[in-house]
Amino acid sequence: MGRKKYSDPSSGETETGKIIRFGVSADVRLLEKFDEMIDEKCYANRSEAIRDLIRDELVEHAWTTSNEEVVGTLTLVYNHESHELNDKLTSLQHDHHTNIISTLHVHLDAHNCLEVLVLKGNSKEIKNLSDRLSGAKGVKHGKLTMSTTGKELY
Ligand code: NI
Repeated sequence: MGRKKYSDPSSGETETGKIIRFGVSADVRLLEKFDEMIDEKCYANRSEAIRDLIRDELVEHAWTTSNEEVVGTLTLVYNHESHELNDKLTSLQHDHHTNIISTLHVHLDAHNCLEVLVLKGNSKEIKNLSDRLSGAKGVKHGKLTMSTTGKELY
């Protein structure tokens, strides 16, 4: 039996979206833990929490498929006093300028800089660029947050 299709993109149905209710069976202890988490995270209800989990999994999955366009932010903390590091970070960013939508630079103190790069493109390219920037000698912390263009999420 084939996978159920709930929407037909060609019909334009996905624009407005139809809400479907579905039942999920789970161990009562698992559900109790889930409800505790929902309370702590101030979710309005279980449905919203489950929708968020689904979206998060879809975002993560998009990053594993090489042909999907993804968006992410890379945060770097480094000491700007190393000319070698400054040159490397700048030239890497210029080489990949098409993947870098925007950058934010904050001078944290006399020595440390924080940079946030908004990256967009093929997930392999973005991961590779992010690894090279984070891995540059002298970068104290580098963290890629994998996000989405939002196009396929509802
Ligand atoms: Ni700075």
